[in-house]
Amino acid sequence: MAPKHPFLLSLLLVLLLYLTISASSTSLIDSISANQSLSGEELLTSNGGNFVLGFIPIGNSSQRFYVGIWYNKVSQRTPVWVANRANPVSNPSTSVLQISSQDGNLVLLDQSKSIIWSTNTTSITNSNTAVLLDNGNLVLRDGQNSSKILWQSFDNPTHTWLPGGKLAFNKITGESQKLVSWKNSEDPAPGIFSLEIDPNGTSQYLIQWNNSRNYWSSGVWNGQIFSLVPEMTSNYIYNFSYVNNSQENYFIYNVKDDSIITRFIMDVSGQIKMLTWVPTSESWILFWSQPRQQCEVFAFCGAFGSCNENSFPYCHCVKGFSQKFPEDWALSDQSRGCVRNTPLQCTDRNNNSSRNSEQDKFFEMNNVRLPDNPQASQVGSLDGCELACLNNCSCTAYSYGSGCSLWFGDLLHLQEQYGGGSGGGTLYLRLAASELPTHKNKKNMVVGVVVGVFASILICGAIIWALVWRRRRRALMNASKTMEGALVAFRYSDLQRVTKNFSQKLGEGGFGSVFKGVLPDSTPIAVKKLEGLRQGEKQFRTEVSTIGTIQHVNLVRLRGFCTQGNNRLLVYDYMPNGSLDALLFYNTSSKLLNWRTRYQIALGTARGLYYLHEKCRDCIIHCDIKPENILLDDSFVPKVADFGLAKLMGRDFSRVLTTMRGTRGYLAPEWITGVAITAKADVYSYGMMLFEIVSGMRNSEQVGGEGGRGAYFPTMAAGKLRDGDVLGLLDPKLDGDANAEEITRVCRVACWCIQDDETFRPTMGQIVQILEGIVEVDMPPIPRSLQIFDNNTQNIVFFSDSSSGPTSQLQTSTSVSSQTKSLSSASTRNS
Ligand SMILES: *[C@@H]1O[C@H](CO)[C@@H](O)[C@H](O)[C@H]1NC(C)=O
Ligand SMILES: *[C@@H]1O[C@H](CO)[C@@H](O)[C@H](O)[C@H]1NC(C)=O
Ligand SMILES: *[C@@H]1O[C@H](CO)[C@@H](O)[C@H](O)[C@H]1NC(C)=O
Ligand SMILES: *[C@@H]1O[C@H](CO)[C@@H](O)[C@H](O)[C@H]1NC(C)=O
Ligand SMILES: *[C@@H]1O[C@H](CO)[C@@H](O)[C@H](O)[C@H]1NC(C)=O
Ligand SMILES: *[C@@H]1O[C@H](CO)[C@@H](O)[C@H](O)[C@H]1NC(C)=O
Ligand SMILES: *[C@@H]1O[C@H](CO)[C@@H](O)[C@H](O)[C@H]1NC(C)=O
Ligand SMILES: *[C@@H]1O[C@H](CO)[C@@H](O)[C@H](O)[C@H]1NC(C)=O
Ligand SMILES: *[C@@H]1O[C@H](CO)[C@@H](O)[C@H](O)[C@H]1NC(C)=O
Ligand SMILES: *[C@@H]1O[C@H](CO)[C@@H](O)[C@H](O)[C@H]1NC(C)=O
Ligand SMILES: *[C@@H]1O[C@H](CO)[C@@H](O)[C@H](O)[C@H]1NC(C)=O
Repeated sequence: MAPKHPFLLSLLLVLLLYLTISASSTSLIDSISANQSLSGEELLTSNGGNFVLGFIPIGNSSQRFYVGIWYNKVSQRTPVWVANRANPVSNPSTSVLQISSQDGNLVLLDQSKSIIWSTNTTSITNSNTAVLLDNGNLVLRDGQNSSKILWQSFDNPTHTWLPGGKLAFNKITGESQKLVSWKNSEDPAPGIFSLEIDPNGTSQYLIQWNNSRNYWSSGVWNGQIFSLVPEMTSNYIYNFSYVNNSQENYFIYNVKDDSIITRFIMDVSGQIKMLTWVPTSESWILFWSQPRQQCEVFAFCGAFGSCNENSFPYCHCVKGFSQKFPEDWALSDQSRGCVRNTPLQCTDRNNNSSRNSEQDKFFEMNNVRLPDNPQASQVGSLDGCELACLNNCSCTAYSYGSGCSLWFGDLLHLQEQYGGGSGGGTLYLRLAASELPTHKNKKNMVVGVVVGVFASILICGAIIWALVWRRRRRALMNASKTMEGALVAFRYSDLQRVTKNFSQKLGEGGFGSVFKGVLPDSTPIAVKKLEGLRQGEKQFRTEVSTIGTIQHVNLVRLRGFCTQGNNRLLVYDYMPNGSLDALLFYNTSSKLLNWRTRYQIALGTARGLYYLHEKCRDCIIHCDIKPENILLDDSFVPKVADFGLAKLMGRDFSRVLTTMRGTRGYLAPEWITGVAITAKADVYSYGMMLFEIVSGMRNSEQVGGEGGRGAYFPTMAAGKLRDGDVLGLLDPKLDGDANAEEITRVCRVACWCIQDDETFRPTMGQIVQILEGIVEVDMPPIPRSLQIFDNNTQNIVFFSDSSSGPTSQLQTSTSVSSQTKSLSSASTRNS
């Protein structure tokens, strides 16, 4: 029968369509109520679309699924919270997340309907609702009263502390909330490192190892910041506060600009990290982390593991030991450490059969940070100390410094090449005799014969090798000669040889390690082994030849390169005086940089950057200006290193930035906000570096004298500039021996360079002119990021109206002599 009412039919169709649409739009639900459940690939999406919740596979096997919350707008799936972190389910389609009909809790059930995870509150209604909020908080609301929150994920964080969340100490229950690291990079189960506010009732946050050992403290809250985190004063992304009421005390932070995606994590590395998502490079940029050095993390390498800040990976087992669980080590979890290869003999005095066997021996380790928890012994000599250790079977090491120290059981927190290889002490590690070469040979005869034969083979070998070497050397010299002026394409084997198989490491940067080498004509060179570069050979050659054409007295000269197989190396001139950071920060008085030299270094660096920015054919932004990248030749002429690498590394560059260690104290704000980077980002970093040249200390490490009041050097400098007390800013090591006018000039330039708004920063060309004394520089406004909220801390002059931009302050600045251009007019013209 044909339909009599086409109108009704179309109405029906429209209705059907509507139902389908509304049904599909209900897939964007943000909550689970009673009688609803979540399973398989279903997702909850928060109201504003920032976060999603669902089953998420974590780890390699993809057999382990977790109920997790992750960012909806971040292309790398990044979980910020995991419910069943220690109890994964194997099949999401047969597992359900629902409101329990018995007690109203949000529960996760596996296929056998047993409870894997529960919110575990004592609520009695079963009409509760779980809602995913747009700040990433999952909230369980009371069915009768929806403003009553029974449970929330922000109160039960895993390893991520999101903006708006808190990590509190509950004064009533005496419990504190903790961020607990993942077990390893692929397992969200609770790891060994945790962050919490001091449960003893002070305001400091502490990082703990294995719930027992504190190894980092934020310092107490001084009213504005945590006293050991001076960087907080120069804060332009967060607003934060500290709350202390009758129930709890905690710190809370928020992002000023909602478009910035940022998170704070307790990382598997034992460091707390602040990361910001940069959409343009689709990666997380490390913004801040503590402790700065990996080896400062307590027992990072586990028992009998040794940490070395100059090697990667940082951890290895000490001699005579090997990794206890290599599969954990591969996932950067070394916490379970190393085991002995050969058991100790340990002469047991009551056992006659072990008497005859050889005694244990000691292996000498120099320049180490001695392990944790030594026990002092009264013995007064080195030999006595050794004997004291030998006589106790549980003694594993001894050291004899100011007295005899013994260690029993596991050795924890050992570090090699400590204090730049000169600090630390000597540790004698107990090993089974068979682990160490014996000195006394019983079979001298046999050994004699073997040595004889061996020696003659060696001599023959040496003659042949010398012949080959001479030929190769000639070839290498010819190669360099024929390509004079242009870049030399080195063979990998040649570079291997001239660097003695990459044995003398000069340093390590984000792009790879640098080794010293000597060419056959005895020219010293620095060879940089690039890591993580995936581009093809042709593109590499093109980029490198561009870099090769850039030559300036203040830029490190590229001599050549090597691209063979997967190896990508760059060969540079060797700089005998090393890098600026070593001379400024870790100086051992032999080569103290006087003010004259520092000023010339500032000026030379500016000239080098000016050339990069404005004089070469294609403007090159360095992107990584910091003292480590300013090298000094034998007469302390500064040479900027690593330019062009940002382009060479391309997309990998931001990855490199994210893997870099330590505080990104030199990064301009626009790096974090994700706008396009211009040469002004280099100007910012240069300005930060100028402050360090003046003070001789890292900006990030300068904590005020009395009680650590958080004197962030750039803030202090900005204040002292106004008071005219610039000599007080100078590196104390210089004993005030400097030109006050020059210090003023440098500090003013620095302060202009670090303006938040890049249009107010001068160009490198202007900076050169100022430092040359051709152009005068006005008093700079204090960058807004340096102004802190309270004005009775240091003698900083604050502006009454902090909302007005730098332009309004320029009018109040000191007038400039009429015949010279002023920077202020120059820079405002630009904007
Ligand atoms: C859930 O379903 C049961 C039976 O199917 C019903 O009695 C109950 O009222 C429902 N609860 C809600 C909140 O809809
Ligand atoms: C992940 O799995 C692949 C193949 O199953 C394997 O080759 C790789 O080594 C694994 N990675 C880790 C970190 O276990
Ligand atoms: C819930 O609480 C019980 C006892 O209070 C405890 O045994 C259980 O482990 C808790 N479950 C979860 C998922 O926290
Ligand atoms: C709902 O809960 C809030 C917070 O717990 C409470 O302040 C309010 O009085 C409650 N309302 C009712 C009607 O119970
Ligand atoms: C907290 O107090 C206990 C006992 O008084 C003490 O052992 C511990 O060191 C204190 N912790 C801190 C971080 O001060
Ligand atoms: C909280 O405030 C009380 C009283 O104002 C004070 O005694 C206490 O030290 C403060 N605690 C913290 C951790 O700030
Ligand atoms: C952590 O502490 C527990 C006891 O509290 C101990 O059994 C475990 O071995 C410790 N872990 C490590 C890696 O030392
Ligand atoms: C941050 O500032 C905003 C707006 O001034 C305010 O609503 C918010 O409460 C502040 N957050 C913190 C943690 O102070
Ligand atoms: C070990 O040897 C000594 C003498 O050589 C002897 O007196 C003692 O009884 C022996 N001990 C054992 C446990 O055999
Ligand atoms: C004595 O030492 C030997 C070898 O070290 C060992 O095999 C044996 O079990 C020990 N005997 C006793 C009684 O401790
Ligand atoms: C070895 O030293 C440990 C720690 O000092 C001690 O407890 C133990 O009794 C000693 N053992 C012997 C056999 O002296």
